[in-house]
Amino acid sequence: MGDEEGSLILGIETSCDETAAAVVAEGRRLRSNVVASQIDLHRQYGGVVPEVASRQHLLAIIPVVEQAMGEAGVSPGDLAGVAVTYGPGLAGSLLVGVNMAKALALAHALPLIGINHLEGHIYTNWLLDVPLEFPLLCLIVSGGHSDLVLMTGHGEYRLLGRTIDDAAGEAFDKAARLLGLGYPGGPAVQEAAQAGNPAVFTLPRAWLRGTYDFSFSGLKTAVLHAVQRQQSPGETIQTPGVRPSNLSLGAGVVTSADLAAAFQAAVVDVLVEKTKAAAVEHGVTRALLAGGVAANDLLRQEMAARLPVPVSSPPPALCTDNATGVAAAGYFRRQRGERSGWDLDVKPSLRLV
Ligand code: KG4
Ligand code: ZN
Repeated sequence: MGDEEGSLILGIETSCDETAAAVVAEGRRLRSNVVASQIDLHRQYGGVVPEVASRQHLLAIIPVVEQAMGEAGVSPGDLAGVAVTYGPGLAGSLLVGVNMAKALALAHALPLIGINHLEGHIYTNWLLDVPLEFPLLCLIVSGGHSDLVLMTGHGEYRLLGRTIDDAAGEAFDKAARLLGLGYPGGPAVQEAAQAGNPAVFTLPRAWLRGTYDFSFSGLKTAVLHAVQRQQSPGETIQTPGVRPSNLSLGAGVVTSADLAAAFQAAVVDVLVEKTKAAAVEHGVTRALLAGGVAANDLLRQEMAARLPVPVSSPPPALCTDNATGVAAAGYFRRQRGERSGWDLDVKPSLRLV
């Protein structure tokens, strides 16, 4: 422990379908990171079922927290605080994490620190061993959000733009369903796209000029129309076990791999160009990517290639839901003397700004 004593924060995250706990030292050094995913459980329904999720969190939360503490080699008395996601997310899921955090903090006389889930995503970037200097530009792209945020200091955010309809991850999930590519959609579309040619099919980009807002619902509709045009009656796009790239749709003009590639290219194009424009206008030192869609290889490559400033993208395992950023954000809030009351309640619709 040594010099890390007094700086260790336990983070807990249960806002959606991952039960996660992590221990972080000084808001920067990862001591443990445990994520129990429910993806296999929800796959059969094609999406997250809230009641199933909260039940599963209840089963997993104590073992996950114990494992995170054990792997970090710390006991509750070593901690400087317990940080927990209290929103946005599913109420029944958030409740499990918040109550676990309260119980631990109360029992061991530790400060409780409520964290916004999106702030947790952003702070995974503090674990990357890169010196970060404000102002920073954050692109948070997840299943529920697509926000472009200017960060002028710790905990200081200004919203530049957000999606006016579907979130980027939601668009990936819906496109995957239309293309018969399985769940969750992001990784499935990325994999299918590898065998596809994005130039075979041009899908629309909603530029919403003069704003930093995004719109992805038109793109999803364009995918639907492309599928309908190409699909012969009764024909399915993908047969289980058959690589999508081998399947011709209808007259054989477009494959689902080509459509996946075209879809991915369209989403990435808009995200990159808007982030680039905002980075230039606001003179940021760096752009930080966060959220599940930031795990996308093409997005990471294009951001790095096209932006005029350095880009941080956490490793994929830190992009999708986990508690490391919750712990890191908790550390910086605690440093400013913040703590939540014992009446901390879940806020399913909590906003970052
Ligand atoms: O941040 P996250 O784990 O949960 C939310 O807070 O929503 O994000 C999940 C989203 C899903 O929509 C998933 O399809 C998407 O992130 N995603 C990806 C990739 N991996 C996960 N989207 C594109 N490419 C990926 N490789
Ligand atoms: Zn998330």
